[in-house]
Amino acid sequence: MLRALAGLETQGVPLWMMRQAGRYLPEYREVRAKAGGFLDLCYTPELAEEVTLQPIRRYGFDAAILFSDILVVPDALGQKVAFKEGEGPVLEPICDMGALAALSSPARVTEHLKPVYETVARLSKSLPAEVTLIGFAGAPWTVATYMVGGKGSPDQAAAKLWAYRAPDEFQKLIDILVEATVEHLSAQVMAGAEVIQIFDTWAGSLPELAFERFALRPVKAIRELMQARFPGLPVIAFPRGAGAMAVRYFSETGVTALSLDTGVSPEWARDALQVQGCVQGNLDPLLLVAGGAEMRAHALHILETLGKGPFIFNLGHGIVPQTPPEHVAELVELVKAWRP
Ligand code: CP3
Repeated sequence: MLRALAGLETQGVPLWMMRQAGRYLPEYREVRAKAGGFLDLCYTPELAEEVTLQPIRRYGFDAAILFSDILVVPDALGQKVAFKEGEGPVLEPICDMGALAALSSPARVTEHLKPVYETVARLSKSLPAEVTLIGFAGAPWTVATYMVGGKGSPDQAAAKLWAYRAPDEFQKLIDILVEATVEHLSAQVMAGAEVIQIFDTWAGSLPELAFERFALRPVKAIRELMQARFPGLPVIAFPRGAGAMAVRYFSETGVTALSLDTGVSPEWARDALQVQGCVQGNLDPLLLVAGGAEMRAHALHILETLGKGPFIFNLGHGIVPQTPPEHVAELVELVKAWRP
């Protein structure tokens, strides 16, 4: 995976999957039941280490992604965050300057998140040397959509309306998140993360000018600040739904690799994006639920189009809970056996 990120030739195609640890695995559900709440699982290093390792043991992925969540940053900033069964995350919404002023200082997030860095340090020792350890954070825009909306929403309306009505106020929240995210990612790298991925799940809901200001520019700033601290650190960004704006996003953020969502055509990605650097993606997670010939055909289409590299096989979004674990095994076998 590190060779692919450096643009070098690889033996076969490196592979991991977003949300490779999670509810589709019975061994995850067992640990999750023991842990109590979801955040308790994220903040208990032995358990977070264990669930990170589960998919590595089962499938032999080329990379392990730290088990945590993008919403630990608002939690560390002092916003109330809860994960409710069947409901997803629920936060006490922030929608004015008073609530912004009440947040803790971004410099202090690393104090609250010490258990997360301990998980990274443990993984860095327990993982086989050839498995790449990925640290991550949410991009400021996506994290802001949850902080302002108070929960997931189909249209991100609350955050958008604040950004459109009072862009300079909203920018203050984005600036706080840039600073907090750099501190959080730096602590992960210092604890042993070898690559970082920035998840911008809701980037695609922004129109061009707002995309440029609230998605592209903050990620460019994070990438620059991280590589100033850690020269050569590979940075992957996942601007989900960016469409044709991904071309500018890749060159202007200067990230090392772009993670592609399911809607991106592999041919277009090869001609417009892979010429700029490494790409990662982008099998539909629902093909992994369906399995069978259709899953294999789509995976081969992606491999045959992008597999000459630089390329990392992944999904277009995270594995969903109803995925049969044996379909994952079949896909792993197919990708590992494939050669250009
Ligand atoms: O294996 C991995 O990928 C590592 C861990 C990881 C989780 N969340 C664990 C998790 C990562 C990288 C994330 C990222 C994340 N979290 C994103 C960005 C990527 C994406 O999927 O779009 C977002 C938007 C979140 C916020 C979040 N966390 C939501 C909306 C939810 C509820 C939906 C759901 O799947 O339950 C979560 C909870 C969550 N994060 C779970 C896991 C395994 C499930 C919680 C549980 O076990 O009860």
